[in-house]
Amino acid sequence: MKDLNNRVAVVTGAASGIGLGMVEEFAAAGMRVVLADIEKKPLDEAVARLTESGVEAIGVVTDVTDRRAIETLAAATMDTFGAVHVLCNNAGVEYGGLFEEVPPEAWRWVLDVNVLGVIHGCQVFLPLLRQQHEGHIVNTASIAGFNSSVPTMAPYIASKFAVVGLTESLAAELQTAGVPVGVSLLAPANVRTRMVEAERNRPADVPASLDTPTRRAVLKLIDDVMANGIEPRECGAMVADAIRNDRFYIFTEQIMAFDGVRNRLQRMDDGE
Ligand SMILES: NC(=O)c1ccc[n+]([C@@H]2O[C@H](COP(=O)([O-])OP(=O)(O)OC[C@H]3O[C@@H](n4cnc5c(N)ncnc54)[C@H](O)[C@@H]3O)[C@@H](O)[C@H]2O)c1
Repeated sequence: MKDLNNRVAVVTGAASGIGLGMVEEFAAAGMRVVLADIEKKPLDEAVARLTESGVEAIGVVTDVTDRRAIETLAAATMDTFGAVHVLCNNAGVEYGGLFEEVPPEAWRWVLDVNVLGVIHGCQVFLPLLRQQHEGHIVNTASIAGFNSSVPTMAPYIASKFAVVGLTESLAAELQTAGVPVGVSLLAPANVRTRMVEAERNRPADVPASLDTPTRRAVLKLIDDVMANGIEPRECGAMVADAIRNDRFYIFTEQIMAFDGVRNRLQRMDDGE
């Protein structure tokens, strides 16, 4: 899709961070935008800011773990704009702790949002994207889908490896079948967002993660690295560029991702 002008984009996790950065970049390219997020107040504020500046935008409060909520999101998009061309499955959460400390409810929450949320989005929107004879899906994984070296992040790392696998598989299937829907995999790292505060959206049945010295050190490390990272809008520009040029992998820190893959390959090669 060389020209994004006048096309319609749906972005989940769009009320803040990378999702909002994508929305702003898409709007600047002349797209009409649908913002979906579980947080109503920042969602309403973002939509108000966009519409005041002349962008055609709507917000739909959506929990991506709920298949019916995604169906409602698709219906609202079609009712308002009559089409959808780009879908960004971007909502994601992180919950940490040493492996043995993470309760099953927390595992379920992270896998529900990060993996099932992406699956629901792809399955519900694919038939609508096909209708346009041009379309693009962008799934947000993470550097953690390529580099598993950080401790206390097992649920997050497992979920993002799953997003890498399902997105590579989806892209291959669509390409083989000649379906005119492009696919990209966004693997961000060090983008300045509220990711370390992801537990703000923790469901009532998920206990707060333990405040251990190891966990504190990891969060401080992520915070420090993020402080020197890029702005969400820059990440959004990389996504828009990948859609225009039909590029699959989008890395904000390519060396970190490649190091993770090379390290794994080396250990396999060494017979470790
Ligand atoms: N910031 C980074 O450097 C970085 C690195 C790797 C991966 N990511 C990924 O980028 C994506 C966006 O995260 P971010 O960094 O912008 O963080 P963020 O916390 O600023 O944004 C995440 C958004 O998702 C929303 N959300 C959470 N649960 C939801 C649900 N169940 N349904 C709908 N929306 C929900 C939140 O309300 C929030 O607006 C995530 O998938 C995250 O894993 C970010």
